[in-house]
Amino acid sequence: MTIDNKIGQRITLLRKEKGYTQEQMSVLLNVTPQAISKWENNNALPDTALLPLLAKVLDVSIDKLLTGNSTIETPSPYDSEYTKEEYYWGLKHSELAERVVEIMQDEVQQDKLLLDIGSGEGRDSVYFSKCGFNVDSLEISVPGVEKIKQYSQSAGCSVNIIHANMIGYELTTLYDVIYSIGSLQFLPLDQRQNHFEKYKRHTCIGGLNAHLVFVEKPFIKVAPDWEKNEFFYMSGDLARYYHDWEILQCEEQIIDCNSANIFHQHAVNYIIARKINS
Ligand SMILES: C[S@@+](CC[C@H](N)C(=O)[O-])C[C@H]1O[C@@H](n2cnc3c(N)ncnc32)[C@H](O)[C@@H]1O
Repeated sequence: MTIDNKIGQRITLLRKEKGYTQEQMSVLLNVTPQAISKWENNNALPDTALLPLLAKVLDVSIDKLLTGNSTIETPSPYDSEYTKEEYYWGLKHSELAERVVEIMQDEVQQDKLLLDIGSGEGRDSVYFSKCGFNVDSLEISVPGVEKIKQYSQSAGCSVNIIHANMIGYELTTLYDVIYSIGSLQFLPLDQRQNHFEKYKRHTCIGGLNAHLVFVEKPFIKVAPDWEKNEFFYMSGDLARYYHDWEILQCEEQIIDCNSANIFHQHAVNYIIARKINS
C-alpha cells in the first residue's frame, strides 16, 4: 500500500462531506481539534491505533483513507455476463437517458458534465457522450469497464471511465447531471442517505439528478437474479430524498425483464429532479 501525501486533503474533504467541524470530529475521535488541524495540514499523521475509528467516522475504508484508492474486492454479479461477446443490456440507450437529454436539450452544447453511476456496459454513457455531454462513467465490474471502452471506441466518442466502487466513492467535482439506472439498490441501507446527500451536494445549481430504482411491491415476485447485496426501495423514497428540489418527473412503472433468461417483472420508480438555488 503506497501512502501518498494527500491524506490531509482527503481528511478535510471527507470531514466536510460528512458535515463535521474540526471540533465535532475531535469529540468523536477523542483527540484535540489541534490534532485534526495538524493532520489536515499534513503536519502530522493520525496514530495507527486511531485509523479504524477515523475511517469509520469518515465512512471510508482505511485503504482508501491512506491511499485515495479503494481496493475493489466485491465482484459485480454481472461479471460473467459482461465477459460474453454480446451486450447484456443491449446497445440502445434507456428511456430515462432520453428524458434527461430532452430536458437538458438547450444546454448540452456547453460542456455539461454528467456522472453515470453503475454504468454497466456503457449504453447510456455512450448515448450521453454522443449528445454532447462530458461523461464520467463509473462501474465496478472489470469486464463491464472493458465493454464500455470497446463500445465508446467503436462509437467514436470519448467517455471517461472510472473503475470504482460507488460505495464511499469520493466525488471531487460538481456535476450538471448525476444519473443512475438500476444500480443504487447496491447501496447498503445504512449508506443510502449519505450517498444521496453526496450526489445532491455535488450537483450544480440548476443541474439534475435522475435515478431509476427497484421498488418492493407485494404483488411482484422478487426477480430470479436478485442478489443478497441488493436492497429494494419503497414507493416514495426517491421523492423524499429530493423533497427540497424541484421534482420534474417522478413515476412508478411495472416493467418486463428477461435477465437471467427468465421472464419476470420489476416495479421501478424513476425521478428527475432539479437543484434550485435556495
Ligand atoms: C442493473 S445493472 C445496470 C447497468 C446500466 N446502468 C444500464 O442500465 O445498462 C447495475 C450495474 O451496477 C453495477 N454496480 C453494482 N454495484 C456497484 C458498485 N458498488 N459500484 C459501482 N457499480 C456497481 C453493476 O456492475 C452493474 O453494471
